[in-house]
Amino acid sequence: MTTELLPAPSVAADVTRMKAVVYHGPGAHAWEDVPRPTIQHATDALVRITTSTICGTDLHILKGDLPAIVPGRILGHEGIGVVTEVGTAVTAVKPGDRVIISCVTACGTCDYCRGGMYSHCRDGGWVLGNTIDGTQAEFVRIPHADMSLHHLPPGADEEALVMLSDILPTGFECGVLNGQVKPGDTMAIVGAGPIGLAVLLTAQFYSPAAVHVVDVDDHRLRVATEFGATSVINSADGNAVERVLALTGGAGVNVAVEAVGVGATFDICQAILAPGGHLANVGVHGAPVTLHIEKLWDRNVTLTTRLVDTVSTPMLLRMIGSGKLQPKRLVTHRFALDDVMAAYDTFGHAARDGALKVILTSRQEA
Ligand SMILES: NC(=O)c1ccc[n+]([C@@H]2O[C@H](COP(=O)([O-])OP(=O)(O)OC[C@H]3O[C@@H](n4cnc5c(N)ncnc54)[C@H](O)[C@@H]3O)[C@@H](O)[C@H]2O)c1
Ligand SMILES: [Zn+2]
Ligand SMILES: [Zn+2]
Repeated sequence: MTTELLPAPSVAADVTRMKAVVYHGPGAHAWEDVPRPTIQHATDALVRITTSTICGTDLHILKGDLPAIVPGRILGHEGIGVVTEVGTAVTAVKPGDRVIISCVTACGTCDYCRGGMYSHCRDGGWVLGNTIDGTQAEFVRIPHADMSLHHLPPGADEEALVMLSDILPTGFECGVLNGQVKPGDTMAIVGAGPIGLAVLLTAQFYSPAAVHVVDVDDHRLRVATEFGATSVINSADGNAVERVLALTGGAGVNVAVEAVGVGATFDICQAILAPGGHLANVGVHGAPVTLHIEKLWDRNVTLTTRLVDTVSTPMLLRMIGSGKLQPKRLVTHRFALDDVMAAYDTFGHAARDGALKVILTSRQEA
C-alpha cells in the first residue's frame, strides 16, 4: 500500500459543509455556512455549482411577494455545474458530467409531465430556491435528475448557456408562444429586464414586423434597441399607452407581453391591445391587478398566464449552438460565487449599475 507516502492535506476540508445564500425573510439574506446537501431519493443527483445567476424572481422573493418561501431556504433556481454523486435510479447523468440545471424539476411520468406541463409536475415544478434549497450555493440537490438536468455540450460557454436554466425558456414559452406571435405582428414588451429581453430575442424566430419595448430604465432600453426593438419608450412620464397607440396608428398591438409583475405594467398591456390581441403575462405578481373587463369584453382578446415549463430548452440549446440565438449579450457583470451579496446589490440596483444578467462563478475548479 502506498497511501502512507501521500502528503497529508494541509487543511482538512469539511465535506459536510458548504456556503450558500440563505433567505431570512423579506429584505434579509446572507452568504452563510450550511450543511452540504446529500442524496435523499434514488432519482436525485448532487451538483457542484460552477456558474449561477440571479433572477428578477429572487428580487420578488426578497420583496416578500412570495410568502410561501420560508426563512432558512437557500435561494436560486439557475445554474450550471458538475455532477458529483447520483442516486441508484439515475441513468442519464453520472459523476463528472457538466450539466445545465433547469429551473423546473420534472418527474416525467405524472399526468402533468406527460402533458408537457412540467411546471405543475406532481413531484416537482418550480421547487428550487422555492420549496427546496436552490442553486446560489456551492452544491445543490436536484430531484428527478434524469429529466431536470441537460448535458452541457463540449466546449460550450457556461455564461451563455446558464440563460437556459430560466430566462430563455421563460421568455419564449410564457411570452412568445403564449402570445402567439406571428410573422408581421406588432408587439409590445413591457419590461426590459433579462426576461423582457429574452422575449425580444426569441420573438425573432417568428419575424414580428414591429416590437416596441417599454421600461423606466434608459440603459435597458438602449440594450433593447441594440437587440432589435423597433422603438423604445420610457414610461416614467406615464404616457406609455398614448405613445404605443400613436406608434400603431391608434390600432394597438397584436401581442402585449407583461414582463415586470406589477399592476402599472399590467394596466399598460390591457390598454394597448388591438382587437383579437393577446396579453401574455410573464411577471410574478405579489398583489392583485384590476382586469378592465368593461373595456375588453368585446375586443376578442386572450389573456394568458404561465409558469415556465422548460419544454423548449432542448430546442433553445440547438438555436444557441447554431449561433441564431446569442444570450451572452445579456451578461453585464461578473462576480465570484462567494461575492454573491455584491452581485445582489448590483442586480437589485440595475438602473444605477447598468446591470442585466450578473454571472456568478465558483472559484473552485476541481
Ligand atoms: N412566469 C414565469 O415562469 C417567470 C419566470 C422567471 C421570471 N418571471 C418574472 O418575470 C419578471 C421579469 O423578470 P426579470 O428577471 O427581467 O426582472 P427584473 O427585475 O430584472 O426586470 C424588471 C424590469 O421592469 C422594469 N420596471 C419596473 N417597474 C416598471 C414600471 N412601472 N414600468 C415599466 N417598467 C418597469 C424595471 O426597470 C426592469 O427593467 C419578474 O416578475 C419575474 O419574477 C416569471
Ligand atoms: Zn427565475
Ligand atoms: Zn411530473
